[in-house]
Amino acid sequence: MNKLYLWGIIITAAMLGATYMTITYLGKSGLNGDIINMLAIAGAAALVIITVFVVVKYVRQMQTDTATGELADESWDNIGEYKNPVPFGWAVIFLGTIVWGMWYFTIGYPVNKFSQIGQYNEEVKADNAEFSKKYANIKGEQLVNMGESVYLVDCVACHGLNADGNNEKDAADLNQRISVKSVKYAINHGLTGKLLGTEATMPNRTGLMNANNNYAPITDKEIDEVANYVAGGFKDKNSAGAKVFAGTCVMCHGANGQGVAGMAPQINGWNSKLVVNVLDNGKVGAIGKMPIMDTLNPKQKEAIAAYVMSLSKGE
Ligand code: HEC
Ligand code: HEC
Repeated sequence: MNKLYLWGIIITAAMLGATYMTITYLGKSGLNGDIINMLAIAGAAALVIITVFVVVKYVRQMQTDTATGELADESWDNIGEYKNPVPFGWAVIFLGTIVWGMWYFTIGYPVNKFSQIGQYNEEVKADNAEFSKKYANIKGEQLVNMGESVYLVDCVACHGLNADGNNEKDAADLNQRISVKSVKYAINHGLTGKLLGTEATMPNRTGLMNANNNYAPITDKEIDEVANYVAGGFKDKNSAGAKVFAGTCVMCHGANGQGVAGMAPQINGWNSKLVVNVLDNGKVGAIGKMPIMDTLNPKQKEAIAAYVMSLSKGE
């Protein structure tokens, strides 16, 4: 008998033996009369036998086959190549795949059909619509309470249980509108955020005029003074800081820091639009980076603004 067939039989017997050992000794209960297990084993045995003998057949063919056919004229590397026609079925499938690919990308791809992302977006939209409808009329204390519960989920990690941002180490202190540190930062570096929801930016100190001499930039002393005046809540109208503010900041921020539409944000307190702008656009400043938190729905944003505003009331 041919040596190859002998090897085929040996390998088949070995694999069947291994299969048998596995189910008898490794599996605790063996086949246990389970028809599905037996069918699976029979299938495995059939696969082993067929595979081994197909492999043997082709190895043998490779040993004995001699090639026939017409050699191509070109011989680039001194290894001859036969002129084999492309198999018909293969050519049909090749061309068919190209045509199908074009169809799929232009017409077939289900752009408007089901997608998980689409379904998710639709469900979020529906849920938000229901939410806004259900809570459309809440206001006052209820709105603040809703804001607090959103705060406890989304903001507390950075702004802290007391909303003081861990003494402004981790985030802004929301119990006050602004700290001395943040006012100084705004003046020294300027701000290019979107507190107004637009591109309006705050110039840095080189662009802010000295209160006494309009052709020289603001001085360190003036910055100290005005920062204390602003962060202190615009109280002492006769202070040096008040004078600097009136000379330098007033045209953008308004006489009491109430903000000017389209020019500069309110800095004497919070307003709903300001808080929502921070949520929608994030903020970078003296303390660090406030991430964009725009996945909240409009009612939740309104509520959280109400909560933030409630924090500094009665100060
Ligand atoms: C040219 C107009 C302009 C002038 C002048 C100006 N600001 Fe501003 N200020 C802005 C704008 C615009 C913003 C918002 C920037 C942003 O969205 O990042 C801003 C932001 C601020 C903020 C940041 C508020 C926050 O929430 O962090 C502070 C504080 C501030 N200004 C204080 C001052 C003071 C004090 C002066 C005077 C020394 C001054 N600004 C002068 C336009 C101005
Ligand atoms: C990953 C930390 C983090 C989270 C979460 C976070 N914040 Fe902030 N937030 C900051 C930081 C840092 C600042 C200060 C940015 C700066 O330096 O001016 C800030 C600033 C703010 C300001 C602006 C203060 C100012 O002076 O202009 C508001 C308002 C605010 N956060 C509200 C919220 C609310 C509401 C939430 C929850 C929906 C929230 N933040 C979640 C880190 C965070």
